[in-house]
Amino acid sequence: MRYGFFDDAAREYVTDRVDVPVSFTNYLGTQRMGTVISHNAGGYSWLDSPQHHRITRFRPNGVPMDWPGHYVYLRDDEDGKYWSMSWQPTGLPLDEAKYEARHGLSYSRFLCEYRGIRAEQILFIPREDGTEDPVEIFDVRVRNDSSRERKLSVFGYVEFSFHEIDMDNQNFQMSLYAAGSHYEKEAVICELHYEPGAWQFFAGNFSPDGFDGVRESFIGPYRTERNPAGVTEGRLSGSTELGGNPCGALRKAITLKPGEEKRVLFYLGTGRGDAAERARVRYDEAGTDRAFDVLRRFWDEKLGVLQVITPHENMNRSMNIWNLYQSEINVLFSRFSSFIEVGGRTGLGYRDTAQDAMCIPHAEPEMCGRRLCQLLHGQMRQGYGLHLFDPAVLEKGEEEGVKTPTVIPEADKKGMLHGIKDACADDALWLIPAIVENVRESGDLSFFDEVVPFADEGSATVWDHMKAALDFSYAQVGSHGITKGLRADWNDCLNLGGGESAMVAFLLIWATNHFLDAARFMGRTEDEKKYAALKKQMEEKCRRELWDGKWFLRGFTASGAPIGTQQAREGKVHMESNTWAVVSGTAEPAQGLSCMDAVDEWLYTPWGLMLNAPSFITLDDSIGFVTRVYPGVKENGAIFSHPNPWAWVAECMLGRGSRAMKFYDALLPENQNDQMEIRQAEPYSYCQFIMGRDHTAFGRARHPFMTGSSGWAYYAASRYMLGIRPGFEGLTVDPCIPAEWDGFEAVRKWRGAEYRISVTNPAHVEKGVKRIRADGKDTDRIPLYTEGVHQIEVEMG
Ligand code: GLC
Repeated sequence: MRYGFFDDAAREYVTDRVDVPVSFTNYLGTQRMGTVISHNAGGYSWLDSPQHHRITRFRPNGVPMDWPGHYVYLRDDEDGKYWSMSWQPTGLPLDEAKYEARHGLSYSRFLCEYRGIRAEQILFIPREDGTEDPVEIFDVRVRNDSSRERKLSVFGYVEFSFHEIDMDNQNFQMSLYAAGSHYEKEAVICELHYEPGAWQFFAGNFSPDGFDGVRESFIGPYRTERNPAGVTEGRLSGSTELGGNPCGALRKAITLKPGEEKRVLFYLGTGRGDAAERARVRYDEAGTDRAFDVLRRFWDEKLGVLQVITPHENMNRSMNIWNLYQSEINVLFSRFSSFIEVGGRTGLGYRDTAQDAMCIPHAEPEMCGRRLCQLLHGQMRQGYGLHLFDPAVLEKGEEEGVKTPTVIPEADKKGMLHGIKDACADDALWLIPAIVENVRESGDLSFFDEVVPFADEGSATVWDHMKAALDFSYAQVGSHGITKGLRADWNDCLNLGGGESAMVAFLLIWATNHFLDAARFMGRTEDEKKYAALKKQMEEKCRRELWDGKWFLRGFTASGAPIGTQQAREGKVHMESNTWAVVSGTAEPAQGLSCMDAVDEWLYTPWGLMLNAPSFITLDDSIGFVTRVYPGVKENGAIFSHPNPWAWVAECMLGRGSRAMKFYDALLPENQNDQMEIRQAEPYSYCQFIMGRDHTAFGRARHPFMTGSSGWAYYAASRYMLGIRPGFEGLTVDPCIPAEWDGFEAVRKWRGAEYRISVTNPAHVEKGVKRIRADGKDTDRIPLYTEGVHQIEVEMG
């Protein structure tokens, strides 16, 4: 069963059955202002921080689902019938009114046809050039498809938030008297008296025929957004108050002749009357069209850095549009603004951000670079990363902010720094491949020598930050000589403390590989020798201590008990250790084949690979919280999406392209568009996890968009399956594909040149390159170009 389809030409997902039992999510904004929006226009906006500067309010985890939102209502002023342009909140019977929602890249469109009126609402946030505060535009068109003249009212509505999420959710004896509204220059202004200079506005490109600034006046007692009094009565009361719950509601009366269409624009922004006036001038109809065009071209350019044509339609769709889009949203908004993380936290998760920034430097060089600098600053001198930190607090230093008399806790730097006990063993290790991949992409070697402060004291070059991370991990070893698991490794719920984590050991080896590649290229021989020797010792220990005959152990508890053995009845085979044994290059060839066969045998499902099997059922705190999680859910035996691409990489390293594709296909959201009764989540977004075999809801996906699965899926598919990898010395094309593929084409823009890559596979192999031609000439390796368009032919065999 499906709820929609892909419109590839428009780069939109079209939900034509809008009564999806969950929200289909999208994100607006490409810079500071963001909005998370559902296919029913439910959602909320923020500026910079969804915790400290929330613009519109949201009632998370509530019923009805995903209310309120950024709504536009229509009312037929002849008989008082009213409806919303998105199906919710009015929720008309779907056999009477026709609704469609289209999620595009950084915009959403809501369409409805009812009683001879066709209406469309586009929501988007224009890209600014730095001269203006950001604005969200509601671009509304209403057309009269009936044969008589119609008199209608158009209402735009948002509910403002008190900026601070704590103010919004508690201690109303304070908050309800510290924020209010007034009307100025034909705009409703929400003001926050306790936060000097904090204003939001809601305005239109017209002189309103009525407004409300007080939520209770617009909605009316014992009513909801489904039947707000202002709309049912067709009259807004002009309410404002210093105090209460501010909202922005505006009415515009229009008359439409048969066939006539009118356009109405609403603006939601930061600032007061003057800012609203500037928005009207800048984003009049022509300005709005221009801004929308800029947004489309912005995405054209980003997506254009790598485009592929393979025989696999859903892979093309994912690589060329949705997977990259999702990965960008992760780099941009990090994790704490969604329908799941509703702004209660601010800042960056160390490992998540590092991985996001590692995966897409080609499309998002600036933002990835900025994230790297923030992460470097979030590293302690001793080498580990601050697991969750707010870069703004670090940047602010020790100076005192305004202390509020009430509920707002001021985050301070001291409270954010933590000791080794709270360190996650993997966090800072991800920084190394992230840095190296970014430099491979940009070619900017000087980045290695930039000086960045540590979170606690002192500063060092980027190069020395990387060494600090390596030194920390090589020193933090347990009784088998394997790296300790500390508070957690990649798996938040594996809490080994002084016990040892196979995954961290393999990740350390992989990070060292990236470091050594850079050291070799930079001629930093001393460092190369030192870390090659440390790596070699760690590899030997891993092969000796962690091999269990058929697969690799997951690690040891603090008392030395092995986790993930052949004898174990639960938590027997684990994805992290086995995939990473291969990805890091540590597994001997036979071990690699055997452990990945175990992954296939024990962990494969048609919905993707489970994290471990069988799920843990016996509570055991020496292993960690994972044993307290329901079987088949999240870290305990679910199909956790993020590690799935590790298995694709591993299979590609083993040369098994069909196996890699089998795993890829199982997880690919686009493949599940027709199985929505089971998946129950966006078919255009990887989700954090999918319920595993040991759960009754096996196959149900949860938590879209904000997940490291996205970046990793893109990274694994582009660099390993399609094999297009930028390096210090040039571009490599070394695919690992299903034998039946005849080949594929790709365009990759890199360091000023455009590589038009054509891969052929006449012998129908899965891996291996027999011949390379660059601009018609045979060559051993693809030359490093700095300009121009170049034809690269790669023959597999
Ligand atoms: C969540 C966390 C991520 C962690 C994963 C597995 O997605 O954001 O940091 O690696 O869970 O526990």
